[in-house]
Amino acid sequence: METKVVIVDNFVGNKKNYEQAVDILKSGGVVAFPTETVYGLGALATDEVAVQKIFEAKGRPSDNPLIVHIGDKEQVFNYATGISTDAEKLMATFWPGPLTLVFHKIPGIIAPNVTPGVETVGIRMPDHPVALGLLRALGEPLAAPSANRSGKPSPTEAAHVHKDLDGLIPLILDGGQTGVGVESTVLDMTTIPPTILRPGGTTQEMIESIIGPVNSETKSPGEQAPRSPGMKYLHYAPEAPLYVINYDAVKICAAIDKLHAEGKKVALIGPDELGITGADWYFAIGMAGNNEAMATNLYGALRKCDLTEADLILAVETDLAGVGAAVMNRLMKAAEGKHFIY
Ligand code: TXA
Ligand code: MG
Repeated sequence: METKVVIVDNFVGNKKNYEQAVDILKSGGVVAFPTETVYGLGALATDEVAVQKIFEAKGRPSDNPLIVHIGDKEQVFNYATGISTDAEKLMATFWPGPLTLVFHKIPGIIAPNVTPGVETVGIRMPDHPVALGLLRALGEPLAAPSANRSGKPSPTEAAHVHKDLDGLIPLILDGGQTGVGVESTVLDMTTIPPTILRPGGTTQEMIESIIGPVNSETKSPGEQAPRSPGMKYLHYAPEAPLYVINYDAVKICAAIDKLHAEGKKVALIGPDELGITGADWYFAIGMAGNNEAMATNLYGALRKCDLTEADLILAVETDLAGVGAAVMNRLMKAAEGKHFIY
């Protein structure tokens, strides 16, 4: 299969931009498209055969549910039931935006392989002109996971999608680099209070400012089996082993010296102020404490590490404030929980 890349930067509202994508989707195919978080790989959420193609292209385990993307807020009522006043407040405040809300599903509408093994459905309205343009031209919901091969960092540029899925999908809509850079927050609205299953672009602080305290599985890791099934798999991982390391320049230099003495080449991901500190490759992802910038640049940096000959990657820790919770969640997953020990 040839993979076509179509640039959609001007006239994003022009329906003509989406004709080809809509044709492919309506005939049961898959299309990659940008959202404000990461690129998604979409298929008609009501078409089981089409959705199966997502799992095949990604190599994704079939027990991991997909998020349903809608182009208008009102569509949520077509697929979900038991929508609380708090949920309505969240939708009014944060949609379109990087917040996925998990509701009880109305049976028999969304294809069963979108929500394998669960009675719920995760829904979001993305805040990207191309995603919204496509959804509105299509007039139907799209099931769409991140458009990477399963286990790899999510794509924040069309080129990342192309690298992972060339030959496996027919079309990529290229809308440039995504802004938020980490995936949406997944918030389970079926628990009281609601539970953050995956931290993401809409922060816990933002959510709590609207509906008060929520549970956060991510702040008490290991206490219970993850209820967002996707969280149990190795994720976001570059090829070389990755270790998280404290933000302490002296210790980072010492760690690199030690690794060099063992004959290892080191790639370092860290804040702009840190500088190269003797690493063989250094990828700066934003000023220290600027967690938004780090979220935007993290996945791109992880992918750049794959273009080096590094034997090992060190990634500098940030704090958990705001979107820092999502940055550290992804880093710890990519590291499989490993901290660099001196
Ligand atoms: O920002 C995003 O959310 C991106 C863009 C493309 O929209 N999508 C994305 O999808 O990250 P994916 O499939 O890579 O991650 C979806 C996560 C998984 O961890 C999955 O287990 C969880 O959401 N999820 C989806 N539906 C769920 C449900 N009904 N109950 C619990 N977890 C759910
Ligand atoms: Mg993903």
